[in-house]
Amino acid sequence: MTFLQLIDQGAHQTLQIDGRQGGPLTGEMTVPGDKSISHRSLMLGAIAQGTTRIKGLLLGEDPRSTAACFSAMGAKISNLEDEWITVEGTSGQLQEPDNVLDTGNSGTTFRLMLGLLASQPNKFFAVTGDDSIRARPMKRVIAPLTQMGAVIAGKAHNTLAPLGVQGQQLKPFHYHSPIASAQVKSCLLLAGLSVTGDTTITEPSLSRDHSERMLKAFGAKLSIDPTTHSVTLHGPAQLTGQTVIVPGDISSAAFWLVAAAITPGSNLLIKNVGVNPTRTGVLDALAEMNADVTLENEREVTGEPVADLRVRHSQLKGCTIGGALIPRLIDEVPILAVAALFAEGTTTITDAAELRVKESDRLAVMAAALTQLGGSITEQPEGMSIVGMGADARLTPTDLDSYTDHRIAMSLAVAATCAPGISHIHRAEAAAVSYPRFFDRLRTLSAN
Ligand code: S3P
Repeated sequence: MTFLQLIDQGAHQTLQIDGRQGGPLTGEMTVPGDKSISHRSLMLGAIAQGTTRIKGLLLGEDPRSTAACFSAMGAKISNLEDEWITVEGTSGQLQEPDNVLDTGNSGTTFRLMLGLLASQPNKFFAVTGDDSIRARPMKRVIAPLTQMGAVIAGKAHNTLAPLGVQGQQLKPFHYHSPIASAQVKSCLLLAGLSVTGDTTITEPSLSRDHSERMLKAFGAKLSIDPTTHSVTLHGPAQLTGQTVIVPGDISSAAFWLVAAAITPGSNLLIKNVGVNPTRTGVLDALAEMNADVTLENEREVTGEPVADLRVRHSQLKGCTIGGALIPRLIDEVPILAVAALFAEGTTTITDAAELRVKESDRLAVMAAALTQLGGSITEQPEGMSIVGMGADARLTPTDLDSYTDHRIAMSLAVAATCAPGISHIHRAEAAAVSYPRFFDRLRTLSAN
């Protein structure tokens, strides 16, 4: 039996891991491009005037869905495998597509694109996605868009995909969002591009600000009030194509940060990672847990902060993760829950109800999986607490499932490397949504 093997099971793949064969993670590596920035570079490129050039785009399934949707609406996107991808924009005039737009598994594609579709007068769009997308809440974007004058109909009293959109000239609007969601904020900012007047979004705490940064770089006028977490787009705005260099995704680096932090002897340098402060909650949480992570070579690349991250093994301790920190590490909670198993003391995650409406119910799925791995977990409506088992915790090898959620598949794979025996993770192919070849990387980094 090898350390790690992917076994074909019809439409799905099962990952088999022998946790007795894992070793320390050492050397240097890079991670694939940032998913959020990749989506936005394709979308802004598609509605801008002129050519956008993109380097480092994530070639995962989610950005491929974005590229396919915007190609179907007239953007000319070069081969995604090219080192430099070019997008010839539509100057704000998306074509009415001939068929249903399919966003696959991608919530970001769905929600951000909806703002652009809703604001294209006299055009009709039908939008759908996979089983997970068709179960995810869309009212959070449909409701404010409707207040701006959008005409959107959908399943379950206009709350779920599939949706039909009859594009309109939208009106200025100030939306006080009940949740800190970059997808909601970005959807409305994109809708505001064709509004004459101001579109303002106020959120309870700051969510990732990649849209704000990139919209400014593409020529839109924005005002930001950091004290109230408000952003105003002064419309209308005609964007102009730009050059975007996509940094490595800190959400993908997080798997290696935790894998190295919990594996004795590890000393790993992850180069070229985006460290936008609205995304570095995982670094703050790991610092609180006593992890040994340092930033080297900090710089700025096409408007986004970037650094190399060095991580070494250390004895972790439990901490509390909640409040305004949650939106800054929203996608890293599953892998932080794995780290918590190896801490001294209890880790408590609060204010994280949003995790229940991600690609899967990440609180329920992780609580059940970590319990199967031998952890003592208490699930709460808005979080969970995890009793740490210390640096030399021995997890129980077991049979797990990704629930087709990419971040669950990768988090459980990291956990399984610390279970001395053979574990299985079913439907592991989900990882390709944000991290193609993740398991190959895991093999080359940690095979003993
Ligand atoms: C994203 C925003 C977050 C995050 C998602 C990507 C984005 O979602 O979980 O993976 O690119 O805007 P929410 O806005 O729903 O929190």
